[in-house]
Amino acid sequence: MDEFAEKLIHGRVHVSPKRLGNPGPDAGQKNQILLAANAAPDHGRMMPWRFIEIGQSSRNALGEVFHQCLLDRDQSATPIQLQEAREKALRGPLLLLAIANYADDANEISKEEKLVSLGCAIQNILLSAYALGFGSGLSSGKALQSPILRSLFNLADHEDPICFITIGTVTQNKPGRVRPGLAEYFSVF
Ligand SMILES: Cc1cc2nc3c(=O)[nH]c(=O)nc-3n(C[C@H](O)[C@H](O)[C@H](O)COP(=O)(O)O)c2cc1C
Repeated sequence: MDEFAEKLIHGRVHVSPKRLGNPGPDAGQKNQILLAANAAPDHGRMMPWRFIEIGQSSRNALGEVFHQCLLDRDQSATPIQLQEAREKALRGPLLLLAIANYADDANEISKEEKLVSLGCAIQNILLSAYALGFGSGLSSGKALQSPILRSLFNLADHEDPICFITIGTVTQNKPGRVRPGLAEYFSVF
């Protein structure tokens, strides 16, 4: 394999949003990163996904939702935990929400296939960010299942929020995980 491709695929690691700081991608780099999503495999060409950027001026609104979601599921959450929940929305210069779109009038393509397409689009985003010198991390959490979050982003019934993508400059390196060996996930029939 070409050395660049090898480095790109195996060099990308999950970086916690806590360790992603400024600078983030500039406008041109952001376009390049987002345009990589449209090269994802997409059975039936349904574009079963979309991405929303949570701009700096909207971070507090998302923080408020994280705070409320924690309170809804744990009334005994401490003020520190609630503050931490809020602050999660402030991390990283570029924050995206990845949304699966299951709309399919003919019911031709399964939900699972649509999620695979979204996963590929996300990986293209992560690899493009990495190729431009940025770190990235995915985050999920219980708030993604909350109706308040759905309503904040005005999601349609046929859409589901899947995970957040944070992109920025790596402020602190940590060793990546040991990746599984081939024998753990491959066999010949
Ligand atoms: C849909 C999805 C959601 C994720 N959510 C989280 C998360 O909430 N917190 C976290 O630490 N990592 C999260 N991750 C990242 C994984 O922990 C990470 O990819 C895994 O540890 C493998 O590490 P690597 O990406 O460096 O190979 C998520 C990954 C995926 C695919």
